[in-house]
Amino acid sequence: MAGSLSSMFPVKNAYNCRQYDESNRIFAHFKINVVIVHSIRNKKDMNILILGSGGREHALAWKMKQSAHCEQLYVAPGNAGTAQLAQNVALSLSDFEGIGQFCLDQHVHMLMVGPEAPLVDGIYDYFQSSDQLNHIQVIGPSKAGAKLEGSKAFAKKFMQRHQIPTAGYAEFTLETLDQGLDFIDQQSGPIVLKCDGLAAGKGVVILEDKSQAKQELKDMLSGKFGGAGNVVVIEDFLDGIEFSVFVLTDGKEYKILPVAKDYKRIGEGDTGLNTGGMGAVSPPPFVDDILMEKVRTKVIEPTVRGLDAEQIIYKGVIFIGLIRVGDEPYVIEYNCRFGDPETEVVLPRIDSDLVELFQALYNQRLDSTPLEINPLSAATVMLVSGGYPQAYEKGKEITQLDDAQESIYFHAGTTEKNGAIYTNGGRVIAITSMDSSFKTAVQKSMAHAEKIDFEAKYYRRDIGFDL
Ligand code: AMP
Ligand code: GLY
Repeated sequence: MAGSLSSMFPVKNAYNCRQYDESNRIFAHFKINVVIVHSIRNKKDMNILILGSGGREHALAWKMKQSAHCEQLYVAPGNAGTAQLAQNVALSLSDFEGIGQFCLDQHVHMLMVGPEAPLVDGIYDYFQSSDQLNHIQVIGPSKAGAKLEGSKAFAKKFMQRHQIPTAGYAEFTLETLDQGLDFIDQQSGPIVLKCDGLAAGKGVVILEDKSQAKQELKDMLSGKFGGAGNVVVIEDFLDGIEFSVFVLTDGKEYKILPVAKDYKRIGEGDTGLNTGGMGAVSPPPFVDDILMEKVRTKVIEPTVRGLDAEQIIYKGVIFIGLIRVGDEPYVIEYNCRFGDPETEVVLPRIDSDLVELFQALYNQRLDSTPLEINPLSAATVMLVSGGYPQAYEKGKEITQLDDAQESIYFHAGTTEKNGAIYTNGGRVIAITSMDSSFKTAVQKSMAHAEKIDFEAKYYRRDIGFDL
């Protein structure tokens, strides 16, 4: 891509000049260096494909569409929200060949991968290994890097190798089940059982009761979560408050994006089942500069240095799920992509051009690319289908969607038919608002949450209650 290359390297031409007097005699020699900076600001030179269909992807589409570089924007498969600002494309996220062919046909320059599954399955490596596709800037880690999310056991060992603070743990398989049962007996406090592999966000179970924990271990190892539970990690329970840190990295340099906190439980007061996320706030006031400096030095630096030392290619986002225990940060998990609904509060707080940041990341220029953060707080409130995260119905018409005023409606599970918009998932719409006070931001979103209507709508009215 000539445009982005010339923006990286100013073109410098040297001209030798002479000045003559009236008799045509040379009286001066001098040299002019002409620096031609091929500015690509305001030059729409990027066709972009975003993979995914949630609120995160709508937020990415919303932000990337604002980029001075964005020419054509595609989202696959997208939702009714992304359809309003991009072209939705019916591609399966596991069909790498189809995605690659689409990129060639539409001259896509950048592929932003929203969810973890294609990354864990190696979409980065698929593009890199093809002579036709390897010029496309895939924003996301290699398969080896995505293992930080794809295997909890790998992530724990990685943290151990690089002295990154995390809960103590042991791992078990069906062959070592008896040792696992003994291990549970020796634990004090709640037992945290985690499937090694991806389990659609359901692979972590925390139990107070040891006999229940033993049964859960047996069930996990016997295929309750399929192959994801072939290995089970049991770790110490950490008691504290959680927060999410997103880091853009090229595997050497990094930039820390605004910090967020999400609300995972379905019920108010953080009760009931875990969900994909019912709301989020950025920044959470309890994450002060002292804590962030600890996160940077004890977690982010050793993580990025560890990736580099282990020659793991990582050009994307590391989402670090952290918990503050006392005054210290511990890593709960790594994810290899943006979080949802954290993205819906993080991206509105980034004033810089996100495509430029992604380009910088891809071209290893992160250090010299500014990241401007909006000082306002952001809050998002998620509207969900009644029954979620268990069984729920889809296909309910959503009304009162037309006037977002200063807030932003990020669609998650929605679809459009004959000009009307219908629910199409558990999480339906994230309403993001900004204000100098996060409480006012939450209130602004709440007013919209009440107004937007669909049958069996549910949302938490207490986002930010603990802050
Ligand atoms: P994970 O998928 O690893 O993020 O775990 C899902 C959720 O389980 C986290 O967001 C925490 O709320 C909780 N969790 C995971 N590990 C621990 C732990 N060691 N101690 C306490 N809570 C945990
Ligand atoms: N909000 C948590 C996640 O995206 O995994």
